[in-house]
Amino acid sequence: MPDRPTRPPADRRPLAELRSQRWFAADNMRAFAHRQRTQQMGMRRDDFLGKPVIAIVNTWSDLSPCHAHLRERAEAVKRGVWQAGGYPVELPAMSVGEVMVKPTTMLYRNFLAMETEELLRSHPVDGTVLLGGCDKSTPGLLMGAISMDLPAIYFPAGPMSNGQWRGQKTGAGTHTKIYWDELRAGNITPADWIDLEGRMTRSFGTCNTMGTASTMTSIADALGFTLPGASSIPAVDSGHPRMAADCGVRAVEMVWEDLKPSRFLTEGSFQNALVAYMALGGSTNAAVHLIALARRAGIALTLDEMDTQSRLTPVLANLFPSGGGLMEDFWFAGGLLGLLGRVKHQLVLDCLTVNGKTLGENIAGAEVFDAEVIRPFERPVTEGGTLAVLHGNLAPSGAVIKPSAASPRLMKHTGPALVFDDHAELSTRIDDPALPVDENTVLVLRNAGPIGGPGFPEWGNLPIPKKLLAQGVRDMVRVSDARMSGTHYGTCVLHVAPESAVGGPLALVRTGDMIELDVEARRLHLQVSAEELAHRRGAWAPAPPKFERGYAMLFQQHVTQADAGCDFDFLETGAATPVPEPDIF
Ligand code: FES
Repeated sequence: MPDRPTRPPADRRPLAELRSQRWFAADNMRAFAHRQRTQQMGMRRDDFLGKPVIAIVNTWSDLSPCHAHLRERAEAVKRGVWQAGGYPVELPAMSVGEVMVKPTTMLYRNFLAMETEELLRSHPVDGTVLLGGCDKSTPGLLMGAISMDLPAIYFPAGPMSNGQWRGQKTGAGTHTKIYWDELRAGNITPADWIDLEGRMTRSFGTCNTMGTASTMTSIADALGFTLPGASSIPAVDSGHPRMAADCGVRAVEMVWEDLKPSRFLTEGSFQNALVAYMALGGSTNAAVHLIALARRAGIALTLDEMDTQSRLTPVLANLFPSGGGLMEDFWFAGGLLGLLGRVKHQLVLDCLTVNGKTLGENIAGAEVFDAEVIRPFERPVTEGGTLAVLHGNLAPSGAVIKPSAASPRLMKHTGPALVFDDHAELSTRIDDPALPVDENTVLVLRNAGPIGGPGFPEWGNLPIPKKLLAQGVRDMVRVSDARMSGTHYGTCVLHVAPESAVGGPLALVRTGDMIELDVEARRLHLQVSAEELAHRRGAWAPAPPKFERGYAMLFQQHVTQADAGCDFDFLETGAATPVPEPDIF
């Protein structure tokens, strides 16, 4: 970015082409009111007239610790916009803070996507800087921006600082789960647990593991949606507000250049995103979000293509939960640009990015400074890949597992099912001393998918029963139509599709049925005859919808299945730029 000029290029678009001019430049009563009301806020005519208007879509809120610094960062973005000759306006959007929002932020990813698109559509905006980072905020903001197709640049909130407790590295999410199991097993005390609560997360910013947040911001980076390498800059680093100002400068330039998502998102850029995803050991959630993003861009992307890429690209980022490092380690080791340099031979290097250069130009000269954190191609972190896509009579449309964060000994396993009909039953029974379970049991959870949840909650990392924890068991095969936090680990088969709530075969499993998992063969099989399954299907009936009004009802009626990206069916068409009718002015 530093070598980009801050003046508009000589061949810039004519001012009259900018959307904002229809609000501000006309000679009519409506335009008068737009100018009048802007001056009502203390702006001078010269502050906004004849300038590109840059919307800073901000997902800050007091209930999103990952975005706690985004109000300050918005000011830095504004600084850049002013310096480049634009007019910045800040537009708040739902923060979708992963930890606080119930029942699950995934219920609201599409809400944020719609909100982003409509914020941009309805206001006098020429370009945008999108401020997000916590899990669903990245795909939500990008999906909306892709559909609106204005010049857009993504600003990632940045990972929080590394954590440590009693000499051990602690990663947000990952170690919450680890220590929770140790507490339930009696290996740490309630006092330890409280001590950990105040020490584990040391700063604002997104989770410091390679969870969904870092996976998705890195994917945005690889897609060309951020300034090069921006996704790896720690939230507290002084480079972070500088990057914010650079985003403001660059957004103004992008408006003059008319550099919008439809000009830089291609099949090649999604290939680059896939390579990055796999080399990072990224979250299973990315499988859903990437398909949704691609469809918004009019590009077909399938789970099987992800499986193929996973076989080709080993996990090189040595980060929790696949490895043992944290995002600050990754930054010091060279960050995403260093990682992309390692897999350069698999990238489509001529893909354009938001800084006006190609990905190849952006990673030229990228270096790795710690080969333990960013491993060479020949020495991956694990033998297990980032994602395996399973098929079989239990998952006709596919299911996923993350081998790099699972137990190698369970990659081929057959065991009897123990079925929980929903999360409430799971919560009630899982620690019952009389639960008929041993370490070979396959725990099954259903009615936890996109429609059944509803909202596709992160319940797929089913807890290990307390009595098995006490015996030293820390992993078991688990199968569900739910998702799992990207910070978590374990042999969890997720996103089973079609989900049980729409009559997928998961709805027909009974306790005691044998379930066969073979990750190498990509097989998930229920050892029950087709005749018996047909018989059971005859007795199956869908549950009534959980919601009969409001947004959740809309979600249940229109969300697509996991293998199709869980977008709303009426939104996943290719990019289009609706133009407000002139007579509304
Ligand atoms: Fe926000 Fe993990 S909770 S990134």
